[in-house]
Amino acid sequence: MERRREVFGGRSAAIFALAGSAIGLGNIWRFPYMVGQTGGAAFIIIYLVCCLLLSLPIFLAEVIIGHRTHAGTFGALEQLAPGTKWKWLGLLTVISPLIILSYYSVVGGWSIGYLWQSVTVGFHSSELGAVSSAFGGFISSATGPLICHTLFLAGCAVIVSAGVKSGIERFNKISMPLLFVLIVAIMVYSLTLPGASAGVEYLVKPDFSKITPSAVADAMGQSFFSLSLGVGTILTYASYIKKNENILVTGLGTVGFDLLFALIAGFAIMPAVFAAGIEPGAGPGLIFETLPYIFAKMGANVPWLSSVVAVLFFVTIVFAAFTSAISMFEVGVAYLVEQRRMSRRKAVLLIFGGTWLLGALCSLSFGPLADVQLFGLSIFSFCDMLTSNFLMTFGGLLFVLFVGWKMDPAAVRDEFTCGGTERFNCAVFGAFRFLLRYIAPIAIVIIFITNFLA
Ligand code: TRP
Repeated sequence: MERRREVFGGRSAAIFALAGSAIGLGNIWRFPYMVGQTGGAAFIIIYLVCCLLLSLPIFLAEVIIGHRTHAGTFGALEQLAPGTKWKWLGLLTVISPLIILSYYSVVGGWSIGYLWQSVTVGFHSSELGAVSSAFGGFISSATGPLICHTLFLAGCAVIVSAGVKSGIERFNKISMPLLFVLIVAIMVYSLTLPGASAGVEYLVKPDFSKITPSAVADAMGQSFFSLSLGVGTILTYASYIKKNENILVTGLGTVGFDLLFALIAGFAIMPAVFAAGIEPGAGPGLIFETLPYIFAKMGANVPWLSSVVAVLFFVTIVFAAFTSAISMFEVGVAYLVEQRRMSRRKAVLLIFGGTWLLGALCSLSFGPLADVQLFGLSIFSFCDMLTSNFLMTFGGLLFVLFVGWKMDPAAVRDEFTCGGTERFNCAVFGAFRFLLRYIAPIAIVIIFITNFLA
């Protein structure tokens, strides 16, 4: 079972790999619509606070466990706390990503559908309402989205079963910077649209009455989702980081990049939302209603450029989604292969079957199954809410408690300060430990309880 563990080449490689897992649909699809649903600038402020006070310590807690043990979740917890129940935290880290994968694949499928459209007919209608209803028509039909969901998940299955990670990672190195350039270009264009200033105002002028307990819970859920926290993904990646790496720099670098991507996506989407007269609280479809509008407007000026940008943009989105989805798929497969002694092929088929089924239900919940409600939510929103607002935060809580209270403090200090060699890290270690032991767990518990009561 013991595999030779590889290590990343160096600091930039470590940040790159972690950012590759973190940056995905969470930044480009989920962040803008969460901002729109929960009230603009006020949400962004809470989000920034959550990232620094909660997500960063949890991120570092996961990194410390993985980096210390050079093992995956089950092995790491068993190594640090042998014979205790902590290792069952590992099970949560198998289940949550698979639920996420189910609905993630639906959105990945939508992206494939839009990629198909951008290659074939393109986007031409910038008429108010027309793009929204085109999207509504697409997702509420049964077959189109189901085919796209199947394609997306099958793509993951093929890559995971072949075990060819290096190809995807190499592609990631090209596609991520390209995605960044494209989203910046789209942002610049979006800001020049007539009526865009209302969107900018929406993003920078906070309305503090919008800061409600549920907005805080949503911001925390979003930052967990975006950083892939609480499910052991970061822990596992960190186990591949070189021994003497400065994890504080790695953590700040990853969180910073992730934040930057999300903010740029917000500033790319919101001005166009206002320019197009789309409802900011439109929900999960927001970017799919807005981007075609942007591309159609662009096409009215320079048609070829608009087509090129649209195709490249959806290609990179699909790949960003793929790289994140594969990491979720692989967790389940690794568990079945390593802990349950299943063949890789069988494990891939089993995970594919299970997630396809749940994903299909999520997909149909926008159309034929729209009436099926769980706790007042559609199947899709329920899966999203269950994972982002409960399972991931619960996992995150257990990780901070483990590093803050259970793990040997000398080992934590040793990891955080690179064996005492980093002066700055030594200076802020006390603050970090305080966040880890008190602020983060208490805040999570409070948000958790309000979430249950809300
Ligand atoms: N963070 C990724 C995104 O923003 C999604 C993701 C990848 C993820 N791995 C995860 C989410 C593990 C939760 C758990 O798109």
